[in-house]
Amino acid sequence: MSLEKLPADLPVPHDDGAADHLIGMHLPPIALPSTLGESVVLSDAGSPWAVVYVYPMTGRPDHELPAKWDLIPGARGCTPQTCSFRDHKAALSELGADVYGLSVQATDYQREMVDRLHVNFPVLSDAAGEFGAALNLPTMQAGEMTLYKRLTMIIRGGRIEHVMYPVFPPDENAADVVSWLRDRLAAKEDAASAWNERYTAAHELYGPEPNQFVAAELSGLSPRRVLDLGCGQGRNAVWLALQGHDVTGLDVSSVGIDQARALAARTGADANFEVIDVAADYQPQAAYDLVVLSYLQLPPEMRSVVHGKAVASLAPGGELLLIAHHVDNLEQGIGGPPTADVLFSEAELAVDFAELELLRNEKVYRNVERDGVIHQAHDILLKARRP
Ligand SMILES: C[S@@+](CC[C@H](N)C(=O)[O-])C[C@H]1O[C@@H](n2cnc3c(N)ncnc32)[C@H](O)[C@@H]1O
Repeated sequence: MSLEKLPADLPVPHDDGAADHLIGMHLPPIALPSTLGESVVLSDAGSPWAVVYVYPMTGRPDHELPAKWDLIPGARGCTPQTCSFRDHKAALSELGADVYGLSVQATDYQREMVDRLHVNFPVLSDAAGEFGAALNLPTMQAGEMTLYKRLTMIIRGGRIEHVMYPVFPPDENAADVVSWLRDRLAAKEDAASAWNERYTAAHELYGPEPNQFVAAELSGLSPRRVLDLGCGQGRNAVWLALQGHDVTGLDVSSVGIDQARALAARTGADANFEVIDVAADYQPQAAYDLVVLSYLQLPPEMRSVVHGKAVASLAPGGELLLIAHHVDNLEQGIGGPPTADVLFSEAELAVDFAELELLRNEKVYRNVERDGVIHQAHDILLKARRP
């Protein structure tokens, strides 16, 4: 029997939802023994990405596989999966990703496999099950053994950004991770260049004044440390700075940030602006008394990542104001993005900001004039406080 080849008729595993909770979670700071000798704390790992493929158990040429192993959906294929990560290691490094295997077998058992297959990355042992328990990783039984189900986590800054589960066929997993990372990097460049084009074409796309809800909700506050995520051309950040706040505005568009800096200079506002992809590159610190998100419309996976970072940016007692296009705007409103996946609902925001005390999470209406006629745009406004 060859462990490196997959039998053709393996049962296909189905998604039982047991990994749904993982996206957005922070890895626990647990040191795991590695086949390279030193222990690894995955929450600190990655340059900037860490790819952790969790697998049930590799077989050994001199041992029988557990009874009925090939009949357990998703069980077979740890060796081909490991070989595929070995063979894709250079491509993953080029994309900024470090690879780790992880299973419950002891390091000595894993080291035999690593030596035999010439594995060129660390394989980590969670024999005590501590790491898996902290993340509630899905498990399966094989006789007496409790093993992890196969899944792959793509991690950035200690936070799980993407999960592949189930993984099938396992020997294609590494190539799928390479494709995901490539798409992710291309999407980032696309977003930046699309907004750069829009802002180059329209110098004050949304005008120089703050959004009406930002102005209404945030007037007259005592000075605070404010973070404006996706600040665009700076209309809100500049107004907040003029109100006496210590403001940082972040945006992926370099053209938008140049225009925000110009608006600040023109109006005498003192604010910091930085070009950064807040989904991919921004590393939050709980240093802000107020976080503002104004029409930062992102698809679901990115949305929950960015909203998680917004929460993580709040100092205790800090407040968050989000204003965005409501999903009902598509059918009932005017303007805004034409696709539902980047529009928000109260239910989605309640999940994203569940850690916070919600003060408001409701639909609000904004008058928009088109050709002399007043229409109503349907927005969503969320206000929340970090306990
Ligand atoms: C509709 S505009 C809103 C701009 C600003 N908040 C306002 O209300 O005027 C959305 C902004 O989000 C920014 N953006 C989109 N994706 C981003 C990302 N991943 N990281 C940082 N900024 C992003 C865009 O560049 C754009 O400036």
